[in-house]
Amino acid sequence: MIKVDNVTVGYGTTAFVKAVDRVNLTINDNEILGIAGESGSGKSTLMRAIYGDFSTGLRIASGTITGRFARNGTGAVTEAESHDFGQLWWDQISYIPQGSMSVLNPLMKVEKQVVDGLPKRERQGNRAELRRRIATFLEGFGLEESVLDAFPHQLSGGMRQRVLVAIAAFVNPRLILADEPTTALDVVVQKKILLMMVEIQRRQRNSLVLVSHDLGVHYQITDRLVVMYQGKIVEAGPTAGIFANPQHEYTQTLIASLPRIDGTRAEARR
Ligand SMILES: Nc1ncnc2c1ncn2[C@@H]1O[C@H](COP(=O)(O)OP(=O)(O)O)[C@@H](O)[C@H]1O
Ligand SMILES: [Mg+2]
Repeated sequence: MIKVDNVTVGYGTTAFVKAVDRVNLTINDNEILGIAGESGSGKSTLMRAIYGDFSTGLRIASGTITGRFARNGTGAVTEAESHDFGQLWWDQISYIPQGSMSVLNPLMKVEKQVVDGLPKRERQGNRAELRRRIATFLEGFGLEESVLDAFPHQLSGGMRQRVLVAIAAFVNPRLILADEPTTALDVVVQKKILLMMVEIQRRQRNSLVLVSHDLGVHYQITDRLVVMYQGKIVEAGPTAGIFANPQHEYTQTLIASLPRIDGTRAEARR
């Protein structure tokens, strides 16, 4: 659905600092794709480049990112190109940036922030009706309507993150990019969020790209895994295969350093 073709990304205009180096990547329809790699390996930069978030001074130096989006229900296929980012692109992709849990405005109720974050097409129409639709959607994931009336500090970190993930899915995007969505949360909450993301993907049959430096997370829910190291993709393939038989020395070291892999893969995944 999305094709990243020989893409080099970096920051700065006068002195260009490379962060992603000649990366090739395909995001297929209806899959959970994991991006692994240590801190600083370029995972977040790659996500920003795919979404088209240039607010950080990011620059795509070379290569192309193209998307082929089939709108739900209609079956119509449209193409959007990275160098001509249009509304179509953003309409079809939901992006949960790293650390987004902490960027909620403490002075504003969750409902307003949620509504403000929705694409324009969702915000037109009746506000009470929109709130009802959001509440129903949240309830589908075990979240009570009252979270909408809360201020962010009244919710736990895990609850805030579950709301953010639910809202990303509410617009029924073809692709969800989630950058470290479970980092800094305890294992029990982490697992809830991972299972929620699997559930969303199953219901909506869209694609999810899950970025995490934590290989245990990938083991639990991803279908395919890409391992980055110093801005390059050093290994890619079905997750189970990579865990069973890592090819690259860096991946071997990562897997060997895991304390123990808990046996939840089969439970969480299909
Ligand atoms: N806004 C930025 N400006 C300049 N350099 C950045 C910026 N964000 C990230 N970098 C650099 O790009 C490289 C990759 O970072 P990042 O994509 O955040 O990696 P990861 O998400 O894997 O931790 C790092 O060397 C980092 O210092
Ligand atoms: Mg990152």
